[in-house]
Amino acid sequence: MRHLCIVGTGYVGLVTGACFADLGNQVVCLDVDQAKIDKLNQNIIPIYEPGLEEIVRRNRLMGRLSFTTDYDEALRNAEFVFIAVNTPEGMEGEADLRYVRSAAQRIAETLDHDAIIVNKSTVPIGTGDLVTNIVERHKKSNVCIRVVSNPEFLREGSAVYDCQNPDRVVLGSEDREAAERVAQLYLALRCPIMITDLRTAEMIKYASNAFLATRISFINEIANICDEMGADVLEVAQGMGYDRRIGHAFLSAGLGWGGSCFPKDVQALEYMASTHGTHPQLLRAVIEINRFQRRRAIHQLREWLGGLDGKTVGLLGLSFKPNTDDMRSAPSIEIAHLLSTEGAHVKAYDPAAMENARHLLPEVELCPDAYALAEGCDALIVVTEWNEFKHLDKARLRAAMKQPYLIDGRNIYDAQEMKSVGFVYWGMGRGKP
Ligand code: UDX
Ligand code: UDX
Repeated sequence: MRHLCIVGTGYVGLVTGACFADLGNQVVCLDVDQAKIDKLNQNIIPIYEPGLEEIVRRNRLMGRLSFTTDYDEALRNAEFVFIAVNTPEGMEGEADLRYVRSAAQRIAETLDHDAIIVNKSTVPIGTGDLVTNIVERHKKSNVCIRVVSNPEFLREGSAVYDCQNPDRVVLGSEDREAAERVAQLYLALRCPIMITDLRTAEMIKYASNAFLATRISFINEIANICDEMGADVLEVAQGMGYDRRIGHAFLSAGLGWGGSCFPKDVQALEYMASTHGTHPQLLRAVIEINRFQRRRAIHQLREWLGGLDGKTVGLLGLSFKPNTDDMRSAPSIEIAHLLSTEGAHVKAYDPAAMENARHLLPEVELCPDAYALAEGCDALIVVTEWNEFKHLDKARLRAAMKQPYLIDGRNIYDAQEMKSVGFVYWGMGRGKP
Protein backbone atom coordinates (compact mmCIF):
# COMPACT_ATOMS: atom_id res chain seq x y z
CA MET A 1 0.00 0.00 0.00
CA ARG A 2 1.30 3.43 -1.01
CA HIS A 3 0.27 6.87 0.26
CA LEU A 4 -0.87 9.21 -2.49
CA CYS A 5 -2.16 12.76 -2.57
CA ILE A 6 -4.01 14.17 -5.57
CA VAL A 7 -4.02 17.97 -5.83
CA GLY A 8 -7.09 19.07 -7.84
CA THR A 9 -10.21 16.95 -7.54
CA GLY A 10 -11.84 17.65 -10.91
CA TYR A 11 -12.65 15.21 -13.71
CA VAL A 12 -9.09 13.92 -13.90
CA GLY A 13 -8.06 14.17 -10.25
CA LEU A 14 -11.16 12.53 -8.84
CA VAL A 15 -11.16 9.61 -11.28
CA THR A 16 -7.41 9.09 -10.82
CA GLY A 17 -7.68 9.24 -7.02
CA ALA A 18 -10.65 6.87 -6.89
CA CYS A 19 -8.97 4.35 -9.20
CA PHE A 20 -5.68 4.40 -7.26
CA ALA A 21 -7.63 3.83 -4.04
CA ASP A 22 -9.38 0.92 -5.72
CA LEU A 23 -5.97 -0.61 -6.42
CA GLY A 24 -5.38 -0.66 -2.66
CA ASN A 25 -3.52 2.62 -2.13
CA GLN A 26 -4.22 5.16 0.59
CA VAL A 27 -5.39 8.28 -1.26
CA VAL A 28 -6.17 11.80 -0.09
CA CYS A 29 -7.78 14.09 -2.69
CA LEU A 30 -7.26 17.79 -2.15
CA ASP A 31 -9.08 20.72 -3.70
CA VAL A 32 -9.30 24.46 -3.05
CA ASP A 33 -13.06 24.31 -3.62
CA GLN A 34 -14.62 23.76 -0.17
CA ALA A 35 -18.12 23.15 -1.57
CA LYS A 36 -16.80 20.37 -3.81
CA ILE A 37 -14.97 18.70 -0.93
CA ASP A 38 -18.04 18.96 1.33
CA LYS A 39 -20.13 17.20 -1.32
CA LEU A 40 -17.56 14.46 -1.81
CA ASN A 41 -17.45 13.88 1.94
CA GLN A 42 -21.16 13.08 1.70
CA ASN A 43 -20.63 10.73 -1.27
CA ILE A 44 -22.11 13.30 -3.66
CA ILE A 45 -20.16 13.26 -6.92
CA PRO A 46 -19.98 16.75 -8.43
CA ILE A 47 -19.69 15.45 -12.02
CA TYR A 48 -21.59 12.94 -14.14
CA GLU A 49 -19.22 10.06 -14.87
CA PRO A 50 -20.51 6.48 -15.20
CA GLY A 51 -19.23 4.11 -12.49
CA LEU A 52 -17.47 6.77 -10.45
CA GLU A 53 -19.94 7.11 -7.61
CA GLU A 54 -19.75 3.43 -6.74
CA ILE A 55 -15.94 3.42 -6.61
CA VAL A 56 -15.82 6.56 -4.48
CA ARG A 57 -18.41 5.21 -2.07
CA ARG A 58 -16.72 1.81 -1.75
CA ASN A 59 -13.24 3.19 -1.18
CA ARG A 60 -14.39 5.82 1.31
CA LEU A 61 -16.09 3.03 3.23
CA MET A 62 -12.87 1.00 3.20
CA GLY A 63 -11.06 4.06 4.58
CA ARG A 64 -8.75 4.26 1.55
CA LEU A 65 -10.08 7.47 0.04
CA SER A 66 -10.63 10.83 1.72
CA PHE A 67 -11.16 14.45 0.71
CA THR A 68 -9.84 17.66 2.18
CA THR A 69 -8.95 21.29 1.46
CA ASP A 70 -6.07 21.21 3.94
CA TYR A 71 -2.58 20.88 2.42
CA ASP A 72 -0.96 19.80 5.72
CA GLU A 73 -3.45 16.99 6.19
CA ALA A 74 -3.32 15.92 2.55
CA LEU A 75 0.47 15.74 2.36
CA ARG A 76 1.18 14.32 5.83
CA ASN A 77 2.09 10.83 4.64
CA ALA A 78 2.20 11.31 0.88
CA GLU A 79 5.01 9.56 -1.01
CA PHE A 80 3.51 10.56 -4.37
CA VAL A 81 1.79 13.90 -4.96
CA PHE A 82 -0.17 14.09 -8.22
CA ILE A 83 -0.94 17.50 -9.70
CA ALA A 84 -4.28 17.39 -11.55
CA VAL A 85 -5.38 21.01 -11.48
CA ASN A 86 -6.91 22.58 -14.55
CA THR A 87 -4.82 24.27 -17.23
CA PRO A 88 -7.31 26.49 -19.06
CA GLU A 89 -6.72 28.25 -22.35
CA GLY A 90 -5.11 31.67 -21.89
CA MET A 91 -5.85 34.88 -23.78
CA GLU A 92 -3.72 34.02 -26.82
CA GLY A 93 -4.34 30.29 -26.99
CA GLU A 94 -1.48 29.42 -24.62
CA ALA A 95 -2.07 27.11 -21.66
CA ASP A 96 -2.61 29.08 -18.46
CA LEU A 97 -0.27 27.62 -15.86
CA ARG A 98 -1.15 29.69 -12.84
CA TYR A 99 -2.84 26.78 -11.01
CA VAL A 100 0.01 24.39 -11.73
CA ARG A 101 2.49 26.94 -10.44
CA SER A 102 0.58 27.66 -7.27
CA ALA A 103 0.00 23.95 -6.60
CA ALA A 104 3.72 23.22 -7.06
CA GLN A 105 4.64 26.01 -4.67
CA ARG A 106 2.14 24.98 -1.98
CA ILE A 107 3.27 21.35 -2.21
CA ALA A 108 6.95 22.32 -1.91
CA GLU A 109 6.31 24.65 1.03
CA THR A 110 4.24 22.07 2.89
CA LEU A 111 6.16 18.82 2.41
CA ASP A 112 8.47 17.96 5.30
CA HIS A 113 9.54 14.57 3.97
CA ASP A 114 10.86 13.26 0.64
CA ALA A 115 8.27 12.77 -2.11
CA ILE A 116 7.75 12.53 -5.85
CA ILE A 117 5.56 15.09 -7.60
CA VAL A 118 3.73 13.54 -10.53
CA ASN A 119 2.20 15.96 -12.98
CA LYS A 120 -0.99 14.77 -14.68
CA SER A 121 -2.26 18.11 -15.97
CA THR A 122 -1.73 18.80 -19.65
CA VAL A 123 1.06 21.35 -19.66
CA PRO A 124 3.25 22.98 -22.30
CA ILE A 125 6.52 21.30 -23.10
CA GLY A 126 9.02 22.50 -20.52
CA THR A 127 6.57 22.79 -17.62
CA GLY A 128 8.19 19.84 -15.85
CA ASP A 129 11.37 21.91 -15.70
CA LEU A 130 9.38 24.91 -14.45
CA VAL A 131 7.80 22.80 -11.69
CA THR A 132 11.24 21.44 -10.75
CA ASN A 133 12.46 25.01 -10.53
CA ILE A 134 9.57 26.19 -8.36
CA VAL A 135 9.98 23.18 -6.10
CA GLU A 136 13.71 23.78 -5.67
CA ARG A 137 13.07 27.40 -4.69
CA HIS A 138 10.30 26.70 -2.18
CA LYS A 139 11.05 23.33 -0.60
CA LYS A 140 12.55 22.86 2.84
CA SER A 141 16.30 22.38 2.61
CA ASN A 142 16.38 18.87 4.11
CA VAL A 143 13.65 17.54 1.82
CA CYS A 144 14.18 15.86 -1.56
CA ILE A 145 11.37 16.32 -4.09
CA ARG A 146 11.63 14.78 -7.54
CA VAL A 147 9.37 15.52 -10.50
CA VAL A 148 7.80 13.07 -12.96
CA SER A 149 5.43 13.84 -15.82
CA ASN A 150 2.56 11.37 -16.24
CA PRO A 151 0.04 12.69 -18.78
CA GLU A 152 -3.51 11.43 -18.56
CA PHE A 153 -5.37 9.97 -21.53
CA LEU A 154 -8.82 9.55 -19.97
CA ARG A 155 -11.90 10.13 -22.06
CA GLU A 156 -14.81 11.67 -20.22
CA GLY A 157 -17.79 9.35 -20.15
CA SER A 158 -15.53 6.30 -19.98
CA ALA A 159 -12.92 7.75 -17.64
CA VAL A 160 -13.17 4.99 -15.03
CA TYR A 161 -12.76 2.28 -17.65
CA ASP A 162 -9.87 4.15 -19.28
CA CYS A 163 -8.18 4.61 -15.92
CA GLN A 164 -8.42 0.91 -15.15
CA ASN A 165 -7.56 -0.23 -18.69
CA PRO A 166 -5.02 2.20 -20.10
CA ASP A 167 -3.50 1.53 -23.54
CA ARG A 168 -0.24 2.77 -22.07
CA VAL A 169 1.22 4.72 -19.18
CA VAL A 170 3.73 7.41 -20.12
CA LEU A 171 6.25 8.61 -17.53
CA GLY A 172 8.84 11.29 -18.09
CA SER A 173 11.59 12.35 -15.75
CA GLU A 174 15.20 13.40 -15.58
CA ASP A 175 15.42 10.97 -12.65
CA ARG A 176 14.90 7.43 -13.91
CA GLU A 177 14.60 5.96 -10.43
CA ALA A 178 11.74 8.35 -9.60
CA ALA A 179 9.91 7.36 -12.80
CA GLU A 180 10.43 3.68 -11.99
CA ARG A 181 8.89 4.20 -8.55
CA VAL A 182 5.83 5.78 -10.14
CA ALA A 183 5.73 2.87 -12.61
CA GLN A 184 5.28 0.50 -9.64
CA LEU A 185 1.91 2.14 -8.95
CA TYR A 186 0.68 1.04 -12.36
CA LEU A 187 2.06 -2.52 -12.51
CA ALA A 188 -1.28 -4.06 -11.49
CA LEU A 189 -2.90 -2.63 -14.62
CA ARG A 190 -0.69 -4.81 -16.85
CA CYS A 191 -0.24 -2.30 -19.64
CA PRO A 192 2.82 -1.02 -21.48
CA ILE A 193 4.70 1.52 -19.36
CA MET A 194 7.00 3.85 -21.23
CA ILE A 195 9.68 5.82 -19.45
CA THR A 196 11.20 8.81 -21.22
CA ASP A 197 12.41 12.32 -20.42
CA LEU A 198 10.14 15.11 -19.13
CA ARG A 199 9.76 17.05 -22.35
CA THR A 200 9.09 14.01 -24.48
CA ALA A 201 6.37 12.81 -22.10
CA GLU A 202 4.72 16.23 -22.22
CA MET A 203 4.86 16.22 -26.02
CA ILE A 204 3.36 12.71 -26.23
CA LYS A 205 0.19 14.08 -24.66
CA TYR A 206 -0.13 17.02 -27.06
CA ALA A 207 0.82 14.97 -30.10
CA SER A 208 -1.74 12.28 -29.20
CA ASN A 209 -4.61 14.72 -28.75
CA ALA A 210 -3.64 16.72 -31.84
CA PHE A 211 -3.45 13.53 -33.89
CA LEU A 212 -6.91 12.40 -32.78
CA ALA A 213 -8.32 15.85 -33.57
CA THR A 214 -6.58 15.65 -36.95
CA ARG A 215 -8.28 12.33 -37.73
CA ILE A 216 -11.65 13.91 -36.99
CA SER A 217 -10.96 17.00 -39.09
CA PHE A 218 -9.66 14.76 -41.85
CA ILE A 219 -12.83 12.68 -41.96
CA ASN A 220 -14.89 15.88 -41.79
CA GLU A 221 -13.10 17.20 -44.84
CA ILE A 222 -13.76 13.90 -46.59
CA ALA A 223 -17.42 14.16 -45.46
CA ASN A 224 -17.76 17.55 -47.07
CA ILE A 225 -16.36 16.18 -50.31
CA CYS A 226 -18.69 13.16 -50.00
CA ASP A 227 -21.69 15.48 -49.84
CA GLU A 228 -20.69 17.07 -53.11
CA MET A 229 -19.71 13.84 -54.86
CA GLY A 230 -22.62 11.65 -53.74
CA ALA A 231 -20.61 9.26 -51.54
CA ASP A 232 -21.48 8.13 -48.00
CA VAL A 233 -18.86 9.04 -45.39
CA LEU A 234 -20.06 6.39 -42.94
CA GLU A 235 -19.19 3.67 -45.39
CA VAL A 236 -16.04 5.43 -46.49
CA ALA A 237 -14.84 5.48 -42.86
CA GLN A 238 -15.79 1.85 -42.42
CA GLY A 239 -13.94 0.85 -45.55
CA MET A 240 -10.89 2.84 -44.52
CA GLY A 241 -10.97 1.47 -40.99
CA TYR A 242 -10.54 -2.16 -42.08
CA ASP A 243 -7.02 -1.24 -43.10
CA ARG A 244 -5.08 -2.08 -39.95
CA ARG A 245 -2.75 0.82 -40.58
CA ILE A 246 -5.75 3.14 -40.30
CA GLY A 247 -8.21 1.50 -37.88
CA HIS A 248 -11.82 2.46 -37.15
CA ALA A 249 -11.47 4.82 -34.18
CA PHE A 250 -12.02 8.57 -34.37
CA LEU A 251 -13.41 8.60 -37.89
CA SER A 252 -16.94 9.77 -37.03
CA ALA A 253 -17.81 12.74 -39.19
CA GLY A 254 -20.22 15.47 -38.15
CA LEU A 255 -20.17 18.67 -36.15
CA GLY A 256 -16.58 18.16 -35.05
CA TRP A 257 -14.66 18.03 -31.81
CA GLY A 258 -15.20 19.95 -28.60
CA GLY A 259 -14.58 19.31 -24.93
CA SER A 260 -12.14 20.23 -22.22
CA CYS A 261 -9.08 18.91 -24.05
CA PHE A 262 -8.95 18.90 -27.86
CA PRO A 263 -9.78 22.59 -28.41
CA LYS A 264 -7.36 23.94 -25.84
CA ASP A 265 -4.63 21.38 -26.47
CA VAL A 266 -4.54 21.75 -30.26
CA GLN A 267 -4.60 25.52 -29.78
CA ALA A 268 -1.83 25.38 -27.18
CA LEU A 269 0.36 23.21 -29.43
CA GLU A 270 -0.24 25.60 -32.32
CA TYR A 271 0.71 28.49 -30.03
CA MET A 272 3.86 26.74 -28.80
CA ALA A 273 4.90 25.93 -32.35
CA SER A 274 4.26 29.47 -33.61
CA THR A 275 6.09 31.13 -30.76
CA HIS A 276 9.06 28.83 -31.32
CA GLY A 277 9.44 29.79 -34.95
CA THR A 278 7.82 26.81 -36.67
CA HIS A 279 4.82 26.99 -38.99
CA PRO A 280 2.16 24.54 -37.81
CA GLN A 281 0.10 24.63 -41.02
CA LEU A 282 -1.57 21.28 -40.47
CA LEU A 283 -2.67 22.16 -36.92
CA ARG A 284 -4.14 25.43 -38.19
CA ALA A 285 -6.09 23.59 -40.87
CA VAL A 286 -7.32 21.06 -38.30
CA ILE A 287 -8.70 23.91 -36.17
CA GLU A 288 -10.18 25.72 -39.17
CA ILE A 289 -11.97 22.63 -40.53
CA ASN A 290 -13.45 22.03 -37.11
CA ARG A 291 -14.84 25.59 -36.95
CA PHE A 292 -16.23 25.23 -40.44
CA GLN A 293 -18.34 22.16 -39.55
CA ARG A 294 -20.63 24.14 -37.25
CA ARG A 295 -20.99 26.84 -39.88
CA ARG A 296 -21.90 24.28 -42.53
CA ALA A 297 -24.84 23.15 -40.44
CA ILE A 298 -26.05 26.72 -39.91
CA HIS A 299 -25.63 27.46 -43.60
CA GLN A 300 -27.79 24.47 -44.54
CA LEU A 301 -30.53 25.57 -42.13
CA ARG A 302 -30.44 29.07 -43.58
CA GLU A 303 -30.94 27.64 -47.05
CA TRP A 304 -33.75 25.30 -46.00
CA LEU A 305 -35.63 27.86 -43.96
CA GLY A 306 -34.98 30.91 -46.13
CA GLY A 307 -33.14 32.68 -43.31
CA LEU A 308 -33.18 32.04 -39.59
CA ASP A 309 -34.88 35.13 -38.24
CA GLY A 310 -38.02 34.17 -36.32
CA LYS A 311 -37.46 30.44 -36.86
CA THR A 312 -37.35 27.88 -34.04
CA VAL A 313 -34.47 25.41 -33.97
CA GLY A 314 -34.17 22.52 -31.50
CA LEU A 315 -30.83 21.07 -30.37
CA LEU A 316 -30.85 17.39 -29.49
CA GLY A 317 -27.96 17.27 -27.03
CA LEU A 318 -25.80 19.92 -25.39
CA SER A 319 -22.83 18.18 -23.75
CA PHE A 320 -19.68 17.98 -25.88
CA LYS A 321 -20.18 14.22 -26.16
CA PRO A 322 -22.50 11.57 -24.70
CA ASN A 323 -22.25 10.19 -21.14
CA THR A 324 -21.00 13.41 -19.65
CA ASP A 325 -22.56 16.61 -18.35
CA ASP A 326 -19.48 18.55 -19.43
CA MET A 327 -20.21 21.68 -21.45
CA ARG A 328 -16.63 22.91 -21.80
CA SER A 329 -16.12 24.02 -25.43
CA ALA A 330 -19.19 22.03 -26.46
CA PRO A 331 -20.13 22.52 -30.14
CA SER A 332 -23.68 23.24 -28.91
CA ILE A 333 -22.50 26.57 -27.44
CA GLU A 334 -21.19 27.87 -30.74
CA ILE A 335 -24.20 26.55 -32.65
CA ALA A 336 -26.68 28.13 -30.21
CA HIS A 337 -24.87 31.49 -30.40
CA LEU A 338 -24.73 31.44 -34.20
CA LEU A 339 -28.45 30.65 -34.41
CA SER A 340 -29.45 33.28 -31.85
CA THR A 341 -27.33 35.93 -33.53
CA GLU A 342 -29.34 35.40 -36.71
CA GLY A 343 -32.62 35.80 -34.84
CA ALA A 344 -33.62 32.16 -34.35
CA HIS A 345 -35.31 30.97 -31.18
CA VAL A 346 -33.20 28.09 -29.85
CA LYS A 347 -34.59 25.22 -27.76
CA ALA A 348 -32.55 22.33 -26.37
CA TYR A 349 -32.76 19.07 -24.48
CA ASP A 350 -29.91 17.06 -22.98
CA PRO A 351 -30.14 14.07 -20.64
CA ALA A 352 -27.35 15.28 -18.32
CA ALA A 353 -25.95 18.71 -19.19
CA MET A 354 -28.93 21.04 -18.75
CA GLU A 355 -27.90 22.23 -15.30
CA ASN A 356 -24.44 23.16 -16.57
CA ALA A 357 -25.91 24.67 -19.74
CA ARG A 358 -28.39 26.92 -17.95
CA HIS A 359 -25.95 29.73 -17.10
CA LEU A 360 -23.84 29.30 -20.27
CA LEU A 361 -26.80 29.57 -22.64
CA PRO A 362 -29.35 31.84 -21.00
CA GLU A 363 -30.94 32.56 -24.38
CA VAL A 364 -31.79 28.88 -24.95
CA GLU A 365 -35.15 27.42 -23.88
CA LEU A 366 -34.44 24.14 -22.07
CA CYS A 367 -37.04 21.39 -22.57
CA PRO A 368 -37.85 18.37 -20.36
CA ASP A 369 -37.53 15.78 -23.15
CA ALA A 370 -36.99 15.31 -26.89
CA TYR A 371 -40.70 15.42 -27.78
CA ALA A 372 -41.25 18.69 -25.89
CA LEU A 373 -38.18 19.96 -27.70
CA ALA A 374 -39.60 19.10 -31.14
CA GLU A 375 -42.86 20.92 -30.36
CA GLY A 376 -43.18 23.83 -32.82
CA CYS A 377 -39.63 23.50 -34.22
CA ASP A 378 -38.84 24.40 -37.81
CA ALA A 379 -35.72 22.25 -37.64
CA LEU A 380 -33.80 19.95 -35.32
CA ILE A 381 -30.04 19.37 -35.09
CA VAL A 382 -28.57 16.27 -33.46
CA VAL A 383 -25.61 17.79 -31.63
CA THR A 384 -24.72 14.97 -29.22
CA GLU A 385 -25.17 11.27 -29.97
CA TRP A 386 -26.80 10.21 -26.68
CA ASN A 387 -28.11 6.63 -26.91
CA GLU A 388 -31.62 7.68 -25.91
CA PHE A 389 -31.86 9.80 -29.07
CA LYS A 390 -31.30 6.74 -31.23
CA HIS A 391 -34.43 5.07 -29.88
CA LEU A 392 -36.88 7.96 -30.13
CA ASP A 393 -40.25 7.53 -31.84
CA LYS A 394 -39.34 9.34 -35.05
CA ALA A 395 -42.94 9.72 -36.30
CA ARG A 396 -43.94 11.33 -32.99
CA LEU A 397 -40.96 13.63 -33.18
CA ARG A 398 -41.84 14.66 -36.72
CA ALA A 399 -45.52 15.16 -35.86
CA ALA A 400 -44.61 17.62 -33.09
CA MET A 401 -42.59 19.83 -35.46
CA LYS A 402 -43.80 22.76 -37.52
CA GLN A 403 -41.46 22.02 -40.43
CA PRO A 404 -39.70 18.72 -41.27
CA TYR A 405 -36.01 19.63 -41.32
CA LEU A 406 -33.40 17.59 -39.43
CA ILE A 407 -29.60 17.82 -39.52
CA ASP A 408 -28.00 14.74 -38.10
CA GLY A 409 -24.75 16.22 -36.85
CA ARG A 410 -23.59 12.86 -35.45
CA ASN A 411 -25.00 10.49 -38.07
CA ILE A 412 -27.05 8.39 -35.66
CA TYR A 413 -30.14 7.89 -37.83
CA ASP A 414 -30.94 5.82 -40.88
CA ALA A 415 -31.63 8.18 -43.78
CA GLN A 416 -34.36 5.98 -45.30
CA GLU A 417 -36.22 5.61 -42.02
CA MET A 418 -36.14 9.34 -41.40
CA LYS A 419 -37.38 10.12 -44.89
CA SER A 420 -40.14 7.51 -44.60
CA VAL A 421 -41.67 9.33 -41.60
CA GLY A 422 -41.56 12.64 -43.42
CA PHE A 423 -38.29 14.28 -42.40
CA VAL A 424 -36.18 16.30 -44.79
CA TYR A 425 -32.99 14.73 -43.50
CA TRP A 426 -29.29 15.46 -43.84
CA GLY A 427 -26.70 13.19 -42.28
CA MET A 428 -23.46 15.18 -42.57
CA GLY A 429 -21.28 13.63 -45.25
CA ARG A 430 -23.92 11.25 -46.58
CA GLY A 431 -25.04 13.10 -49.66
CA LYS A 432 -26.42 16.57 -50.24
CA PRO A 433 -29.88 17.04 -48.77
C1 UDX B 1 -7.65 18.22 -16.24
C2 UDX B 1 -6.33 18.88 -16.33
O1 UDX B 1 -5.46 18.21 -15.66
C3 UDX B 1 -6.04 19.47 -17.64
O2 UDX B 1 -4.75 19.88 -17.76
C4 UDX B 1 -6.34 18.47 -18.70
O3 UDX B 1 -6.08 19.02 -19.96
C5 UDX B 1 -7.78 18.09 -18.60
O4 UDX B 1 -8.02 17.54 -17.39
P1 UDX B 1 -9.93 18.66 -15.27
O5 UDX B 1 -9.76 17.59 -14.28
O6 UDX B 1 -10.84 18.42 -16.41
O7 UDX B 1 -8.52 19.11 -15.85
O8 UDX B 1 -10.25 20.06 -14.60
P2 UDX B 1 -11.34 20.44 -13.52
O9 UDX B 1 -12.47 19.49 -13.57
O10 UDX B 1 -11.54 21.89 -13.70
O11 UDX B 1 -10.59 20.16 -12.14
C6 UDX B 1 -9.54 20.88 -11.64
C7 UDX B 1 -9.72 20.96 -10.12
O12 UDX B 1 -8.56 21.54 -9.55
C8 UDX B 1 -10.91 21.80 -9.68
O13 UDX B 1 -11.72 21.07 -8.82
C9 UDX B 1 -10.27 23.00 -8.97
O14 UDX B 1 -11.04 23.49 -7.88
C10 UDX B 1 -8.96 22.39 -8.50
N1 UDX B 1 -7.90 23.37 -8.23
C11 UDX B 1 -7.62 24.35 -9.11
C12 UDX B 1 -7.18 23.26 -7.05
O15 UDX B 1 -7.44 22.39 -6.23
N2 UDX B 1 -6.17 24.14 -6.82
C13 UDX B 1 -5.87 25.15 -7.67
O16 UDX B 1 -4.97 25.93 -7.41
C14 UDX B 1 -6.63 25.25 -8.86
C1 UDX C 1 -9.90 13.36 -25.16
C2 UDX C 1 -8.92 12.23 -25.44
O1 UDX C 1 -9.57 11.18 -26.16
C3 UDX C 1 -8.29 11.73 -24.18
O2 UDX C 1 -7.33 10.74 -24.45
C4 UDX C 1 -7.64 12.92 -23.47
O3 UDX C 1 -7.02 12.56 -22.31
C5 UDX C 1 -8.69 13.97 -23.20
O4 UDX C 1 -9.27 14.38 -24.43
P1 UDX C 1 -12.41 13.56 -24.35
O5 UDX C 1 -12.25 15.02 -24.63
O6 UDX C 1 -13.01 13.14 -23.05
O7 UDX C 1 -11.01 12.82 -24.45
O8 UDX C 1 -13.34 12.95 -25.48
P2 UDX C 1 -13.16 12.22 -26.88
O9 UDX C 1 -13.92 10.95 -26.83
O10 UDX C 1 -11.76 12.13 -27.29
O11 UDX C 1 -13.95 13.21 -27.86
C6 UDX C 1 -13.52 14.54 -28.07
C7 UDX C 1 -14.43 15.22 -29.06
O12 UDX C 1 -14.27 14.69 -30.37
C8 UDX C 1 -15.92 15.13 -28.76
O13 UDX C 1 -16.52 16.39 -28.97
C9 UDX C 1 -16.44 14.13 -29.77
O14 UDX C 1 -17.78 14.35 -30.10
C10 UDX C 1 -15.54 14.38 -30.94
N1 UDX C 1 -15.36 13.22 -31.83
C11 UDX C 1 -14.76 12.09 -31.37
C12 UDX C 1 -15.77 13.29 -33.16
O15 UDX C 1 -16.32 14.31 -33.60
N2 UDX C 1 -15.55 12.21 -33.98
C13 UDX C 1 -14.93 11.09 -33.56
O16 UDX C 1 -14.76 10.16 -34.37
C14 UDX C 1 -14.54 11.01 -32.21
